[in-house]
Amino acid sequence: MPQATRESAAALAVPGEALGPLERGLAVLRVMAADPDPRRRAGDLARTTGLARSTVDRIAVTLARLGHLRTEGRDLLLAPRLMELGNAYLTSCGLPDALEPYAVALADELDESVSIAVPDGDGVRFITQATRRRAMSLAFRIGDLLPAERCAPGAVFAAGWDETDRERWLARRREDPLDTGFPAVPPRLAPSAPGVTEAAFGTRVREAAAAGWSLDDQLIEPGLVAVAHAVRDPSGATVCALSVVSHTSRHTARTLREHALPRLRQAAAVMEEALRTQSRSGPPPAAPAPAEGAVDSGLKAELGPEFLQSLARGLTVLRALGSARGGMSLTAVAGAAALPRASARRALITLQYLGYVRADGGLFTLLPRVLELGYARLSRLSFGEIVRPHLAELAGQVRESASIAVLDGDEIRYVERVPTARIMSVDITVGTRFAAYATSMGRVLLADLPAEEQAARLERIRFEPFTRHTVRSAGALADIIESVGREGHALVDEELEEGLRSVAMPLRDRQGRAVAAVNVSQHAGRATRQQFLDAVLPALAAAVARIEADLAVASERQPIAAG
Ligand code: PHB
Repeated sequence: MPQATRESAAALAVPGEALGPLERGLAVLRVMAADPDPRRRAGDLARTTGLARSTVDRIAVTLARLGHLRTEGRDLLLAPRLMELGNAYLTSCGLPDALEPYAVALADELDESVSIAVPDGDGVRFITQATRRRAMSLAFRIGDLLPAERCAPGAVFAAGWDETDRERWLARRREDPLDTGFPAVPPRLAPSAPGVTEAAFGTRVREAAAAGWSLDDQLIEPGLVAVAHAVRDPSGATVCALSVVSHTSRHTARTLREHALPRLRQAAAVMEEALRTQSRSGPPPAAPAPAEGAVDSGLKAELGPEFLQSLARGLTVLRALGSARGGMSLTAVAGAAALPRASARRALITLQYLGYVRADGGLFTLLPRVLELGYARLSRLSFGEIVRPHLAELAGQVRESASIAVLDGDEIRYVERVPTARIMSVDITVGTRFAAYATSMGRVLLADLPAEEQAARLERIRFEPFTRHTVRSAGALADIIESVGREGHALVDEELEEGLRSVAMPLRDRQGRAVAAVNVSQHAGRATRQQFLDAVLPALAAAVARIEADLAVASERQPIAAG
């Protein structure tokens, strides 16, 4: 639904108990998520949302303190931690976890992209992508929303619409004839563009109702073709659609159907069986309480009236709903959010009214609309875009250069760097390589390797005296690497270059593997080793923790490659 409609509907019918700050905070997030420009100033947001400037400021302070927004000068940007909300929906709905392996297998077998989408109002929202996208067409991300009439899953879902659903769809088309409320798709060419008229959609919906599948012959953009098949739950309701997507350089819509439909049918049947098994085994036990709710009273004390406690609590409730599958009772939500029942209840009422939560038989369930809160936009961030702000903050705190590198063969390769203004003799840029064994980042990465691989690597090093301090033997290096592993950081003092000293820590992924290293370097003449460590190590450790937290949230559903 276009932004304006929802905002004005909200103004008309706020239930008495809804939490204003939560509602307004979510409105700010929605506006930022839909804006083509990722940076916004508080003043622009006040204009777009119609909220008072002072309200937007308090929302921004609260969201920034929770790690959901970040500031760069006067600009506000969505931060990767916000993806916790969408992750909560994806976990609690259970579909990606149950079905993704089959989608990946189908993509491998057909060598085409495969996606899973769920209905969201009169739209279609992606929850899984197994991508084989060649350069030719746009790639959708988890969280992207498409108009039902412009994609194959839309006709499959609309086969189950009632009169109210159809009315809502017609109203949306009247209000937004060019699909501007769908930032992921190119605008419709004209209100009555062929293929997406009411009559054309009606025909596809009737065919989908009879056959269980539908075709998209370039409804989104020229070249993009897809075929989608319904996946039903044990009650017979269509819960999601499985699509195979290709390009007219490889397939027409007709040959894609011939090529993919038989396999798509089989895969949908296997998925339906997986859902039956999942429902027989029941929902997984609720995860232990995140207990973050308790933190907000501390933040309230720290930030005073600027901190919007009910916004923070509402977001805690959203996250808490991700700790179980198949709905949670009020008591369970309050427990998982570490909040009083009355607070949890008011947050749930607000979230239900805004369309993020469904209440059914005393159980509260997250809805796919949660993904509109920045998920798709944030899932497009690259490794560099995620780490750079933290690296810049670190360099600013310690007033020295900070870098990130990965292990590439027997060398490290720099993938990010924030230099200080001070002149250093070493000229390091992104892409620079050094022998891993002689650098702090290389040593923390070598220290993380499995014992056998580490030994094999040490064996083949040809030691070069870069300076008079450079380690000379495999035995000495093995001792150093062993202590680096124990201490969790590596200090290298003038072994790569006279006058250059650096300290590094590993950057670990969700499985605990060191995927990259972060370092700070300085001129050795500026301080003693101990002064350097005392000044830098705490800030370095804090930056690593922040980066790891962001990467963990952002890569929960899709890998993010370092460098
Ligand atoms: C996609 O997964 O990108 C996709 C799926 C169905 C469509 C179009 C695109 O109709």
